[in-house]
Amino acid sequence: MYIGILSRSIQLYSTRALFRAAQARGHRVRVFDYMACDILVEDNKPSLIYGAEPIPEFDAFIPRIGSSFTFHGVSVVRQLERMGVTAAVHSDAIARSRDKLMCSQYLVSEGIGVPKTYFSHDVEDPKFILDMMGGTPIIIKLLEGTHGVGVVLAENYKTAETVIETFSKTGQKFVVQEYIKESGGADIRAFVVDGEIIASMRRSAMEGEFRSNLHRGGQAAVYKMSEEEKATALKACEVLGLKIAGVDMLQSERGPLILEVNASPGLEGITTSTKIDVAGKIIDYVEKIHVAKTKLSV
Ligand SMILES: Nc1ncnc2c1ncn2[C@@H]1O[C@H](COP(=O)(O)OP(=O)(O)O)[C@@H](O)[C@H]1O
Ligand SMILES: [Mg+2]
Repeated sequence: MYIGILSRSIQLYSTRALFRAAQARGHRVRVFDYMACDILVEDNKPSLIYGAEPIPEFDAFIPRIGSSFTFHGVSVVRQLERMGVTAAVHSDAIARSRDKLMCSQYLVSEGIGVPKTYFSHDVEDPKFILDMMGGTPIIIKLLEGTHGVGVVLAENYKTAETVIETFSKTGQKFVVQEYIKESGGADIRAFVVDGEIIASMRRSAMEGEFRSNLHRGGQAAVYKMSEEEKATALKACEVLGLKIAGVDMLQSERGPLILEVNASPGLEGITTSTKIDVAGKIIDYVEKIHVAKTKLSV
């Protein structure tokens, strides 16, 4: 097969791991910087221009769209889909999961637990929101943040009001969210490929920190998920239409609550802590969908 990886750079751990896993299975593989792909929309002939040439005809592609490049990245993925190239992750599914508010709206509609979350376009009175949400401590987070940046735990009312005012006055999109204290600064990451949990880990925040992100000094360890947690993670992927995803959840008194679902989950933390060949399993899945498609078109 000829596999394309849409990524900003081959230097990134996950991109390199996928590249090597594809090569090791005898595939031809190339990394395309999706930000350098131009889109040409034309009657019956959608195309992508890469380095002043039409993009090569590969069989399937794996999108690895960074959160700061969602608009262009998703547009490129959509274009490749229209060109008939098999996508490992669909453009609509990436868009649905990327924005934390949108993601939680989809999830609750199917009965999946999420922390109580409030969104306002125009905050006139932070006090109203805080009262509505049951006061402090409370979480305030930017909608498109990542790696824990833009997630604030406001311990008291004054701090919460100040953060809400600051985010609001600087034109940021954010949510005010119930603080799940009993999760104790830890979250669970389930790595899902093709409707199966192939690896899972528990990340714990470092001393004095509530965010468990590895980028914020969190530590990861192998974790055996409960049946309820597994079912929740798989259901979330099903609802969002994601075949490859990192599902993050908090353990709460009312069961697992989904924080976010990542459509381009990092491979380094999960591979290092679980020793599972996550990249290899992703390539196995790409092979499977390619074979299925080829059979269909015969
Ligand atoms: N409502 C919450 N209650 C308790 N901890 C939270 C809550 N929201 C986020 N956290 C902690 O902060 C971390 C980062 O939050 P998250 O929403 O995943 O943002 P990011 O996309 O930046 O990773 C989580 O992994 C978790 O440890
Ligand atoms: Mg996170």
